[in-house]
Amino acid sequence: WPGASEWVPRGRSVAALADAAQRCRGCDLFRDTTQAVMGSGPADAELVLVGEQPGDREDVEGEPFVGPAGRLLDAALTEAGLDPSAVYRTNVVKHFRHTDRGGKRIHKSPARWQVAKCEPWLLAELDRVRPRGAVLLGATAGQEAFGATFRVGESRGRWLPWPQAWPAHRGEFTLATPHPASVLRSRRRDEDLAALVADLRVAAELLT
Ligand code: URA
Ligand code: SF4
Repeated sequence: WPGASEWVPRGRSVAALADAAQRCRGCDLFRDTTQAVMGSGPADAELVLVGEQPGDREDVEGEPFVGPAGRLLDAALTEAGLDPSAVYRTNVVKHFRHTDRGGKRIHKSPARWQVAKCEPWLLAELDRVRPRGAVLLGATAGQEAFGATFRVGESRGRWLPWPQAWPAHRGEFTLATPHPASVLRSRRRDEDLAALVADLRVAAELLT
């Protein structure tokens, strides 16, 4: 598989990316999906949120974070003093990786090689939106940015440098926090939600 580069259009428009990604054959993940899901939000957002990949709902609707994890994320953003409509949301991988079990599509995390093949789309988004900061939601996003040894638990909730892996545009900070889907699955949901909100508050402060 050739990676996404040859499908990424030139130019500065972030809106043009979603259409172009529908043609991408950079890896095998376009198969068995409804569509590619590019990021969404203001093209001049100060903050970008980076998730893993679209889920079942996102694959159907063509928008990131419209399912259960997205609803929890919006609530957490609001509680942290961030306006959900002012942030740009995206994922490191643009197609939904899943396995089929009993007629249901079960989420399966993208492999490291698929994340690498898809990276040109994320870099194009960052280069066009040019945010001041990026929040890395979960291990897939954290490791995309900082490499396979990155652990969210050890680095969450504080200023992190702009990743070397993202050279096109250089923002002021990144901040890592667990993925909202992991909060949904947690047995200590209230505590974990409070901790997610606390991390997002740090991101809000870094923007002031
Ligand atoms: N989880 C993600 O990482 N991204 C989405 O868009 C939805 C769920
Ligand atoms: Fe292209 Fe990314 Fe989809 Fe793979 S997952 S086909 S690289 S858009």
